[in-house]
Amino acid sequence: MIFKEPAEIECFGECTVPSPAGYEFYTMEGSRVAYDAIFDPGEEINPAEIRFFEQAGPREKIFFEPSKVKAGIVTCGGLCPGINDVIRGIVMELHYRYGVKDILGFRYGYQGLVKSCGHEPVKLTPHSVRDSMYYGGSILSSSRGNQDPVKMVDYLVELGIDMLFTIGGDGTLRGASAIAEEIKKRNLKISVIGVPKTIDNDIHLIEKTFGFSTAFAEAVKAVNSAYVESVGAPNGIGLVKLMGRHSGFIAANAALASRHVNFVLVPENDFDLYSEGGFLEALKQRILSRHHAVVLVAEGAGQKFFGDDGQRDASGNKKLVDIGPFLKDAIIEFFKSQNIEINLKYIDPSYQIRSVPANADDAVFANFLAQNAVHAAMAGKTNMVVGLWHNVFTHVPISMAVAERKIIKTDKDPLWRSVLATTGQPAHMLCQKGCTEP
Ligand code: F6P
Repeated sequence: MIFKEPAEIECFGECTVPSPAGYEFYTMEGSRVAYDAIFDPGEEINPAEIRFFEQAGPREKIFFEPSKVKAGIVTCGGLCPGINDVIRGIVMELHYRYGVKDILGFRYGYQGLVKSCGHEPVKLTPHSVRDSMYYGGSILSSSRGNQDPVKMVDYLVELGIDMLFTIGGDGTLRGASAIAEEIKKRNLKISVIGVPKTIDNDIHLIEKTFGFSTAFAEAVKAVNSAYVESVGAPNGIGLVKLMGRHSGFIAANAALASRHVNFVLVPENDFDLYSEGGFLEALKQRILSRHHAVVLVAEGAGQKFFGDDGQRDASGNKKLVDIGPFLKDAIIEFFKSQNIEINLKYIDPSYQIRSVPANADDAVFANFLAQNAVHAAMAGKTNMVVGLWHNVFTHVPISMAVAERKIIKTDKDPLWRSVLATTGQPAHMLCQKGCTEP
């Protein structure tokens, strides 16, 4: 569901305060970004049915009186390159453009918003965040899991916070929405604005999350090492496991950037192992014909081999069984049973791809997101997350962003088509009709 009018972003009221930001030009309230960019040949376009996002950007008139504003920033969930760039960007924009001097950083994610957890908030100033972007992680630290919205809003009220910036993925956004609902229930005017963070790039209706570009660029280093190893021994196989719980964007993009990858196994693309038509048979053909192979597996791929024991992490995500060593053993056993010598090298760069500072691309992107988050908050918007659509910054209601997860659509996504073309892997590696996995 995409709104037809961009008015669905919640707003506290009319913007009557002239913005002190001093921009040469502003984004007009009511500017929209069309959801659809592609139309089938001959498809009739009914203007009444065009769906839109609200466009992000600084407004000439704002809702809050900047000199009275007190802002808060919280970073939640797993670490991600660029968090410190966003914190820095928010602080700088608030301070220098809007003259907001009172900014608090809440420590350890949503725990920091619960007074009884005892994590004292820290004052953030341009000086304190000046060099933050040189470091990986979050200068505020983070935590997984939600907290009681009643307690969090109690603390926001006690501290006199007018706007809260929540930096995180879908779990964080759900938490932010719960806070915004509690604020609404109490008839308060505290703006809650999300900034989309996750290396998995899996937030619905948002083209790109910050941290993703850096993470897959880091992953490419591991992939290239795997390639070097694979050609360095007879029948070499480089197997790399990469993060990507539900969506394989990191693996797919790392494969495309590296171009040495022969198989990409992602959660979105079911595969079998042993049967005719399955992955191991395809890998065997590759080894017999080319004598080396690079395989990427996203951590969420192949979970059907393990079943679900019901275990969840603090964010409510299913605890995954480690597909990497499982696949490594399966490949070794399989080739042994075929009497084919292989030399398999397994690489798991794990947290290394997300604990680094942002690359230049993410640094620019994170700063844009930060600035647009501030503009949205100053305009009195709430319960929304800053997005990107057709390369334009947008406002997305949190309820829509968390309604589903962005995944690679393997039946129609040009990204996946390109992965198949670049790797040469079969589109389907499943049991043929009538056969069963041993
Ligand atoms: O949220 C992104 C992510 O990096 C996933 O790719 C990964 O599954 C998860 O976080 C692991 O994070 P943690 O070990 O901190 O729960």
